[in-house]
Amino acid sequence: MTQFTEYYSFDDVAREVRFLRSDPPTPWMNYLSNGNFHVMLSQAGGGMVWYKSPQIWRLTRYRFYNLPMDRPGPYLYLRDAETGAHWSVNGEPCPERPDAWSSAHGLGYTRFDCAHQGIAAHATYFVPPTADVLVWRITVRNTGTRARKIDLFGYVEFSLMEYLREVQWQCYVKHQLAVRHHAACDSIIYRYGADNQLKPEETPQVYFAANRPLTGWDCNRDVFIGPYRSEENPLGLERGCQGSNILGGDGCGALQCTLDLAPGEEQEVIFFLGTAASPDDAATRLAALRAPGAVDAHWAALGELWQGRLRTFQATLPDADAARMVNTWNPYQVERNFLFSRSISYYATGFRGVGFRDTAQDIVAYLQLDPLAARAKIHELLAQQEQNGFCYHTCYPVEGFTTEKKEYSDDHLWPLLTVWSWIAETGDAGILDDVVPYFDGGEGTIYEHLCRSVAFSQARMGEHGIPLMLAADWNDAMSRVCREGKGESFWTAMQLGVVLPKLAELATRRGDTATATLCADYKRELTDVINDIGWDGAWYRRATMDDGLMLGTKEARQAQIFLNTQTWSVLSGMGTPERQRQAMDSVAELLDTPLGIKKVHPAVTDYPTPEAPLFAYNPGLGENAAIFCHANTWAVIAECLLGRPERAWKYYHQLIPHIALQTAGIEQYMGEPYAYASNLFGPDSDRFGLANVTWLTGTAAWMYLAITQYVLGIRPELDGLRVAPCLPPDWPGATITRVFRGCEYTIDIVNHGGSAVTLTVDGEALDGTLIPHQPGRATCAVRATLGVTIPV
Ligand code: NOJ
Repeated sequence: MTQFTEYYSFDDVAREVRFLRSDPPTPWMNYLSNGNFHVMLSQAGGGMVWYKSPQIWRLTRYRFYNLPMDRPGPYLYLRDAETGAHWSVNGEPCPERPDAWSSAHGLGYTRFDCAHQGIAAHATYFVPPTADVLVWRITVRNTGTRARKIDLFGYVEFSLMEYLREVQWQCYVKHQLAVRHHAACDSIIYRYGADNQLKPEETPQVYFAANRPLTGWDCNRDVFIGPYRSEENPLGLERGCQGSNILGGDGCGALQCTLDLAPGEEQEVIFFLGTAASPDDAATRLAALRAPGAVDAHWAALGELWQGRLRTFQATLPDADAARMVNTWNPYQVERNFLFSRSISYYATGFRGVGFRDTAQDIVAYLQLDPLAARAKIHELLAQQEQNGFCYHTCYPVEGFTTEKKEYSDDHLWPLLTVWSWIAETGDAGILDDVVPYFDGGEGTIYEHLCRSVAFSQARMGEHGIPLMLAADWNDAMSRVCREGKGESFWTAMQLGVVLPKLAELATRRGDTATATLCADYKRELTDVINDIGWDGAWYRRATMDDGLMLGTKEARQAQIFLNTQTWSVLSGMGTPERQRQAMDSVAELLDTPLGIKKVHPAVTDYPTPEAPLFAYNPGLGENAAIFCHANTWAVIAECLLGRPERAWKYYHQLIPHIALQTAGIEQYMGEPYAYASNLFGPDSDRFGLANVTWLTGTAAWMYLAITQYVLGIRPELDGLRVAPCLPPDWPGATITRVFRGCEYTIDIVNHGGSAVTLTVDGEALDGTLIPHQPGRATCAVRATLGVTIPV
């Protein structure tokens, strides 16, 4: 275990990050989830619990924008029944701090350890893979020499389920709930049932109970907390629970258990906060959870689940910080993005639904962890596509809300990459024949859906022969380019350049030569235009505006060069080889910083006009010359494709959160050292290096692809596994295990510098770098030598 700062340390064997102070500059979050039942929990126990949807089934309350920053949460309090002294196992929120305290986030769990006044407590919170419940498992030990009576309290504040109605109409809606103690199962049960609520028949009831008899409970928040108090100093901790129930009002769950502890004695209490269809169902579920060994089995299942997922790709690397991200935290973040899209985090209140393009990209990185879940998500996404190929930019698959119909130039194209990647991973092109409904009626195979995506773009070309920008492309901030319907996107042309060959490859294998030819021709035409009018002399331009103004040119006062069209000129292969290198050299020269690559340079303040500048963001923030980490990932990939490992490594390494945090300083960086951010404030800001929107960001998926598939170079393709590493020159090598289509590959890379690769497979020399898939092969030993050709 290495302690890096006074705030945190990593235990890479346990795959944990441990917190030594409860007050980092922002809450450092974890997500506990089984795909249905979810918890967002900070290092200090703040956070919220929801079931399937944070919009309509928000079970516990969390006050966004609150001060302190992460209140409330599922808190655990201890009270010395004799002295009345009380403190929290979570570190927050009681003013009386434990003598010793730490917490740790692990994969799907968070734990807290504290010792105070001769009482040691250890609590682990987790959500089992197969039960919709938050388990809080607590041991309390008397470390002193005299007998102690200790009260343990578990506390949650219930939310009004439907978040928007809670914000708008709580004064009425709150009187339509009931929170009561049910003696039959010794559990608090919260029932929400409001007039005109969404999906009443699917709305769960919430139980909160312990594995042992309660000493007391409260269901009325105002009784437990008391007037002009907060979760910092609840009245209930002073006088004990009062046994309040509540029919209408502000509900809570407060459970009290009294422990008589002889010297040296330890006792365990387990709280269960879960969902059920009815009180009877809650009683059944609780009986199962209270059965001897049940919680142990759930805990073991959680460990096995993550072990199984992570087994797909593990690496031994000379760089511990990269290894930690590759082996643990990056795939973990990828999975959490797959579950939550961009909806709920410390930065997002949980009301924005699922981003189409975001999820399509997340799946590409996630699919190796669970191809079946990825396939289901592909169905869910393509069901948001209309017959003409249009895809809804934002969707609400759980809630079924309707959403604005706004055409973007990129959304519909991402599934081509997603589906191709799914087939490359699994080898199963049968997915193309899956039938998925169109949003506006009718249905089609996935292959037909993909073809319609291309047709949608073809029908929306601009006057220069590149795609119209429409509402925006991948970059949301391009919204001012095409307000009159004429502005175009060079980047979207390059996106087509990446995905058209994918569809062509699939089409060729299906014998659909017409589509394959169409894709090839389309790409060729776009390539010609890009190189004809898109090249600015030292980089590729970004867009044309409605009035014909070129964006991304050296003549401009601001926004002269954009990152995306440089990286994607390489990813798409549309730039000429010489221009690709020159474009990426311009990135290094004009956009790179010690904390990552700026998205655009110079920042916009009043360009093209003071009345309507291109971006509303302040200089250096968000889309306006921030370090946009998501877009940095493509620079890593581009440099690998160009065979320039030094630069690829620099771009990868500087954004490892733990590294960026050290470069910027913890007070400046602020975000979690284990989860990627969407962006960092850029050098134009006096807060250069501040991490913004951590956890739920496309950075996670693409950084994982960049390191695993390009730097380490293990890349699934339709015919097998490509092994084409691009390692930092000073690494002697690396060893990777990769489970691919049922075969466990052990790949030893020996690095003599450079990117020329020679492979042996099970001792035999291989021509090229693609290892053909052999059905039935269980293991495969690969040796990749970089830089020199070794005679075999
Ligand atoms: C964040 C959005 O979630 C994503 O959809 C978009 O591509 C990037 N910002 C860039 O604008």
